Amino acid sequence: MHITPLTGTIAVPGDKSISHRALIMAALARGKSRITGFLDAADTRRTARIIAALGADVQGLETGGELVVTGRGIHDLREPADILYTGNSGTTTRLLAGLLAGQPFFSVLSGDESLNDRPMKRVIDPLARMGATIMARADNTRPPLAIRGGNLAGIHHQSPVASAQIKSCLLLAGLFAAGETAVTEPRLSRDHTERMFHYLGLPLRAEVRPDGTALAAVTAPGQDYPGTDFAVPGDPSAAAFFLTAAAIIPGSEVRVTGVGLNPTRTGILDVLTAMGAEIAIDNRRDLNGEPAGDITVTHRPGLRGTEIGGTLIPRLIDELPVLALVAAHAEGSTVIRDAAELRIKESDRLAAIADLLTAVGTEVEPREDGIVIHGGTKTESTGRDKPLAFRSRHDHRMAMTAHLAGLAAGSDFTIDDTACVETSFPGFFPLLEKLMKNEP
Ligand code: S3P
Repeated sequence: MHITPLTGTIAVPGDKSISHRALIMAALARGKSRITGFLDAADTRRTARIIAALGADVQGLETGGELVVTGRGIHDLREPADILYTGNSGTTTRLLAGLLAGQPFFSVLSGDESLNDRPMKRVIDPLARMGATIMARADNTRPPLAIRGGNLAGIHHQSPVASAQIKSCLLLAGLFAAGETAVTEPRLSRDHTERMFHYLGLPLRAEVRPDGTALAAVTAPGQDYPGTDFAVPGDPSAAAFFLTAAAIIPGSEVRVTGVGLNPTRTGILDVLTAMGAEIAIDNRRDLNGEPAGDITVTHRPGLRGTEIGGTLIPRLIDELPVLALVAAHAEGSTVIRDAAELRIKESDRLAAIADLLTAVGTEVEPREDGIVIHGGTKTESTGRDKPLAFRSRHDHRMAMTAHLAGLAAGSDFTIDDTACVETSFPGFFPLLEKLMKNEP
């Protein structure tokens, strides 16, 4: 099979994290909000359906254009009549657990098999300390979550992990709590919730201390605020697939326009640069307090292995699968550490990365909190008697990474499940095809 370069200019769909947050904050506003650039994917649809079940009016989901959400005000959510289904979405589950913990009614959050196996103690315990009553499966650690909220009091929570889902869960609960609700994390995780609270004029305090720990706090209960416009930048985690493909496939040059450049998300650009990739950024702009711009990656031979750990990890946590593929195509070894959180994502991504890279013939050394990748994977146009066989573990990011691994290997390949790509990126395959046509 021939290796086709990727060339051209594309825009990727809206940021998943910001789309969830825009929906939630529009549901709490009084009156009409418009969300442009919204990511229309399975996960964000779950959040949209849930805020509708809580009383917000959501228009535009079926037409795929801008979303118009009419909220009833911060204190006027309704008790839902049924279980709130969160599908595969950890962000929906954890953020809404915080919101629902603040409501004086009963609700149940439940998802698919993978979601209902993900750890929730990390949000249940602090929400219970704030005064919410939450019951859950597996000794109060896994969904479904049955929540009876209301009457919360602020706490200061020291999160053992850098997690924007934990932080955002507690900041949302804090809007309904007496006093201040503060979260300290060991490293700054993505700060979209803080930026959005700031944009909406909600009472927030946030700082990164000299030792790298970060604090975010809602300083007083939230007051009603009017509906507004939310403009969602392109998702850097979606752009990452095309930017990394361009870095490893000879002859490629890909430009992705309107991508979010929030520094808590751009770790991938730092790592690609350290590995020797050629990256240019122009047309920088601001969208509701979120930086954005156009990113171009031009293929250059001679990528080098690197070290990825510490403060970088939360800044590229969702890009580690595809960065591991880049490492396989680089000269020398790449060490990924401090990434134990990858084991509890949509799949055990450290195990999934090890399987995938082993399948393409790369030597790897799995570790408890990371993996060592010995680069220099040979691409083969002939010589394999069977197609490469990848397993996605029903994990959207593993499925997209596997597809790129197959293309970059120049070999026939199969992937057991790619339907899971709908979770975050329904347009992935058409965009890839467009870049492979090499039209001017
Ligand atoms: C997200 C936070 C991260 C990330 C996830 C989206 C968010 O999860 O992996 O894809 O929108 O807050 P954690 O908070 O569990 O690290």
